[in-house]
Amino acid sequence: PPMLIQQEPPKPLYTKGAIVFDIDGVLLKGKTAIPEAIDTLKVLGGQNEMGKRIPFLLLTNGGGVSEEEKAKELSKTLDFPIMPEQVILSHTPMKALVPEYKDKLIMVVGGKNRSCVRIAKMYGFTKVCTPNDVYNWNKAVWPFMDAPPQEELPSDPEDEANADYSKEKIHAVMIFHDPRDYGRDLQIVYDVLKSKDGILGNGYMDSGEQSVPLYCSNADLIWSNDFVSPRFGQGAFHVCLHGIWDKTSGNDQDKLEKRLFGKPFQVQYEFAEKCLDKLISSQAGDSEASTSAADTDGVKRNVYAIGDNPLSDIDGAHNYGWNSVLVRTGVYTEATKHKYADSKPTQIVDNVGDAIKWILENEA
Ligand code: G3P
Ligand code: MG
Repeated sequence: PPMLIQQEPPKPLYTKGAIVFDIDGVLLKGKTAIPEAIDTLKVLGGQNEMGKRIPFLLLTNGGGVSEEEKAKELSKTLDFPIMPEQVILSHTPMKALVPEYKDKLIMVVGGKNRSCVRIAKMYGFTKVCTPNDVYNWNKAVWPFMDAPPQEELPSDPEDEANADYSKEKIHAVMIFHDPRDYGRDLQIVYDVLKSKDGILGNGYMDSGEQSVPLYCSNADLIWSNDFVSPRFGQGAFHVCLHGIWDKTSGNDQDKLEKRLFGKPFQVQYEFAEKCLDKLISSQAGDSEASTSAADTDGVKRNVYAIGDNPLSDIDGAHNYGWNSVLVRTGVYTEATKHKYADSKPTQIVDNVGDAIKWILENEA
């Protein structure tokens, strides 16, 4: 007869506190797990003195893949099951822009091939183009590159991205991830923001005014991977764009307006708090659901953000009213700490393993 595999009932959920991890520089270095991260997740899975699961989210300024893809990739690298509902990417809260732009053509910038177009459509945007589509329409917009490879172009000839950009209005520019070609994308994003009514065929407006809104998913100037020094983040692209905008406007005033998503901005933390509420309600199960939402018997849940970048992870958590633990495995190190004197982490530790130890002691 077939063997019956006895499934252990899930451990009870700890509902008085929750952990919000940053990914790069806390759990991963490039594509590799930081060694302490593997055991840390097992501790959260219930291997701790309380014998309870501890709810957690991953709140990263990274992106360029879907929440499902990121959850799958992380589950493998970290050897722990992570659900898409636990993953908040820099662009995840940009879903909130869908009602305003649902049937309007938008330009999505960044990421590999058409990955960010796919993500934007999954969120509910219906008409999405990229700087590369504009380049493909008229190669004179950026005369410094060869024709784009096939995988970077829309596969369907009827796709809105094959528009005649001399007539078609681009209603907004949304930077979803790091541009793969700074030169080309700076030029084309600038063209859209500067052209009368967002139509490239209209030519530029006279003044330094901006024609259509710019939304950006991540303002990090730097981030940490497996290279010895931090790498430029999407914020570095913003700096370049602002620099060109100011110079060509002929004044020193920064007139380029953008709406920012990602850490350290409140929009990201409000989104994360809601995800945490939902996650805890669903993980607690019926018996504990009544004590699972934002409050536990009227006591506010303790949220601990663990991050490596003081300017995004720590400042964002602090301003939102969460505890924060700063680790030394990424942007913040002994050598760079003098730059971050204004950040106010609740605690500073060597790595994510020590962060969890400190949090559990603090919660005991
Ligand atoms: O592009 C990724 C980066 O800016 C930071 O990722 O996980 O450290 O927020 P993370
Ligand atoms: Mg980080």
